[in-house]
Amino acid sequence: MFGRMHLQHQVVLSICLVHLIALTLTTAILVINARDAVRLEVNSGAKSARALVLATLGYTLQETAPSEVLPRLAETLVAPRHVHIALVDARRGLLPLREVDEAGPANVVPDWFVRLATPEFREIRIPVGANGNRYGYVSITMAPGNEIAEVWHNVAGIFWIVFVSAVVSALILFWLVNRTLRPLDALRAALARLRDGKHSVRLGRSSSADLAPIFQGFDDLSDALEAAEADRTRLNRRIVELGDAERRTIAMELHDEFGPCLFGLKVKASAVARAAERLEDQDLAQDAVAIQSIVAQIQASNSRLLTTLRPMAIGQLPLVDALLDLFQTFRKNHPDVEWRVDLPQTLPDTPEIVDLTVYRFFQEGVTNALRHGRPGRITASLFRQQDADAGPLLRLVVEDNGLGMTGGMSDDTTGGRGLAAMRDRIDAVGGQLNIGPAEGGGTRLVSGVPLLSAPDSALELRAVS
Ligand SMILES: Nc1ncnc2c1ncn2[C@@H]1O[C@H](COP(=O)(O)OP(=O)(O)OP(=O)(O)O)[C@@H](O)[C@H]1O
Ligand SMILES: [Mg+2]
Repeated sequence: MFGRMHLQHQVVLSICLVHLIALTLTTAILVINARDAVRLEVNSGAKSARALVLATLGYTLQETAPSEVLPRLAETLVAPRHVHIALVDARRGLLPLREVDEAGPANVVPDWFVRLATPEFREIRIPVGANGNRYGYVSITMAPGNEIAEVWHNVAGIFWIVFVSAVVSALILFWLVNRTLRPLDALRAALARLRDGKHSVRLGRSSSADLAPIFQGFDDLSDALEAAEADRTRLNRRIVELGDAERRTIAMELHDEFGPCLFGLKVKASAVARAAERLEDQDLAQDAVAIQSIVAQIQASNSRLLTTLRPMAIGQLPLVDALLDLFQTFRKNHPDVEWRVDLPQTLPDTPEIVDLTVYRFFQEGVTNALRHGRPGRITASLFRQQDADAGPLLRLVVEDNGLGMTGGMSDDTTGGRGLAAMRDRIDAVGGQLNIGPAEGGGTRLVSGVPLLSAPDSALELRAVS
């Protein structure tokens, strides 16, 4: 758990722990020393008191009757520091002694400290008697309160100094580590942007000697990724362009070679039919009709194939007109569907690869909706947009209210090639494609295609991120 914490928390926690241990040891040593200091003071006080009592007793016994010695001592004796003297008279009981006010530190000492610092001490009793008579005794006990308060005063002072310096050093360390590691937040954010495909992100130089090589490494990695991404886009575009060119050649062959041949066949079949009619040859006439019908079938297939290989409108009509043509065919073939088509009046001239990409997006998106979604309504829109990162874009949307994609909304569905080809095409012009659920059911395809004017087509395409 400690290992998973942020470095700054780990450092501060470790320092706090070290300080806490140091503080505990300091306190323990102070308390042990305090106990010794109090014991020394109390013992020396007790020794002084004993000597004082014996001396005063001997002196007083010479001048005073033995029975009056203890009251006399009560007037003259003054207890030294740290001890308490009690005079117990056999006849009169406990005699009050002159008290000396000891001004000590006015600390409130906690009970636990008093218990820890109070040393062991045995009461000292000095009997007072003469001629075999006992008149009472002098009792010396310890009074360490003042000494303990003094020691507590010192202990508390040292404790607070250590405590405050520990807190201050932990705070300074926290601030320092935080300041040093702050650039890592920038690194984290940059990594997240890189992961999202924004390869233009750079960190620049770091003033920290530790982080400078890491930042440099990140920028080198971004450079390499950006270059690889540009290569991939270029390659993809080349593949799509080659595919388009090949399809265009095949379409031309079909149109220019097959078309006239089929037409010739049709003319010849008509001639044979007419000859059969003249010769009144029923079998030949039937064969001629069969040939005519086969030729018509091949012509229809050829025409469909031509449209699939290369939409005739592309390259001949402006993109918007080609799209209007496409939607008109869709409307005619599917009159039961509610069509909401929103296209701009005009668009700037775009390279053919962009025109084909836009055209194929709508063609495949709508065909999929009709084939797989069985929708009651299809919405298609195309509009220009200014993107903060990618610049001017063509935003393409196809949405249906049909069944939606089963098995979740993956960007790449298994099965056919339609969506994969669409993605390749959009990728080749540096665009992006999102496939997801439409609001209230159905499927929604959204794409952003960089709007390059026709002369720009030779320029490097930038990946839209
Ligand atoms: N609008 C849609 N509504 C429901 N399901 C869809 C829709 N568009 C695509 N799908 C699902 O995604 C799958 C993949 O579509 P894709 O266009 O790649 O292939 P396809 O249409 O099955 O075949 P192809 O396009 O190659 O003729 C489809 O088979 C279908 O299950
Ligand atoms: Mg499809």
